Amino acid sequence: MNRQLPHLVPERAVNTGIVNGLWQGIKYRGGTGQLAFIGHRLAGLGTLLFLIIHVTETSAVYFNPQFYADVVARYQHPVFMLGEIGLVAAVLFHGLNGLKIIAFDWKPDRWSPEREQFWSLVVFGATFALWLPAAFVMGRSLYLHSILMEPVPAAITPEQVGTGWANVAVISLVALGVAVAFTASARGGSGRHVAVKPTLETRMWMFMRYSGVLLIPLAYGHVLIKDILHGVHLINLAYVDLYWQFLGWRIYDAALLSFALAHGAYGLKQVSEDYVHAPLRLRLTKYAILAGWLIITAMGAIALVGGVGATQS
Ligand code: HEM
Repeated sequence: MNRQLPHLVPERAVNTGIVNGLWQGIKYRGGTGQLAFIGHRLAGLGTLLFLIIHVTETSAVYFNPQFYADVVARYQHPVFMLGEIGLVAAVLFHGLNGLKIIAFDWKPDRWSPEREQFWSLVVFGATFALWLPAAFVMGRSLYLHSILMEPVPAAITPEQVGTGWANVAVISLVALGVAVAFTASARGGSGRHVAVKPTLETRMWMFMRYSGVLLIPLAYGHVLIKDILHGVHLINLAYVDLYWQFLGWRIYDAALLSFALAHGAYGLKQVSEDYVHAPLRLRLTKYAILAGWLIITAMGAIALVGGVGATQS
């Protein structure tokens, strides 16, 4: 099983800190499956780091709108735009590889080392195939508007963002996704079943899987609209204000905020258990993750409810 892969890394490597541990993992000859495991971990952590920065800066629309305006203007710099193109690759890969993990956990009797290698290769190929057109669109925008400094055609109109019916559609989609994920997780997979007493750990294991499924439309949809179709050149205070006039988009963003941050924070807790071994240090690390998750979620939630704050003129 995928979760077993870290145990294949020699004990010495796991115990010698995160950088050395990852390096030993890269050197370990586990083939495509091992590379996918490392890629999944790095992409998950990278996406989480970005998410923390993104939620903090977006919540400034309520707490300090001028600060938000200054920060998003900097995202138009070519270096940030290149980072954003890399981020799209990370989200695509982590999501597709996550689906592979979920599928094998769902039908464990279908797993074999050969299938693991094969499907990891498919994930790498599919990520590249999806990323290439996205990178082209974003790279073109970078070249035209951040290097040649051509003016951006026009601001986003209310019609492009949605109407009353769009609200209904977005709210229904989010509700349907939540219902499907919870029903699926309650039923369990196929194959051999082992009776396991439900604990917080087993429930969180399930949560990582159904939040992962939900995050496919939520995170991919967000990236498609904000990073690829609209792009950083159109994003400013007026853009956020316009989006959040639609209840449907606020609910969409609230679902994304809750599931992505909880999923990422619990993933970080799991990663820290692989590298932090001193009991006190591990306990402090987990409290720090819990506190960070609560603070950032609260900041994002306040901004979502409060909307764009008053600018000082
Ligand atoms: C796009 C859809 C996503 C899917 C399908 C997905 C799926 C998964 C799965 C199946 C796991 C393994 C859980 C386990 O071993 O118990 C995982 C771990 C993780 N995910 Fe996601 N995820 C997604 C999005 C995200 C996002 C948006 C973030 C960042 C906020 C994130 C961060 C993490 C982290 C940090 C881990 C732990 C990595 C590790 O244990 O090596 N994931 N994800």
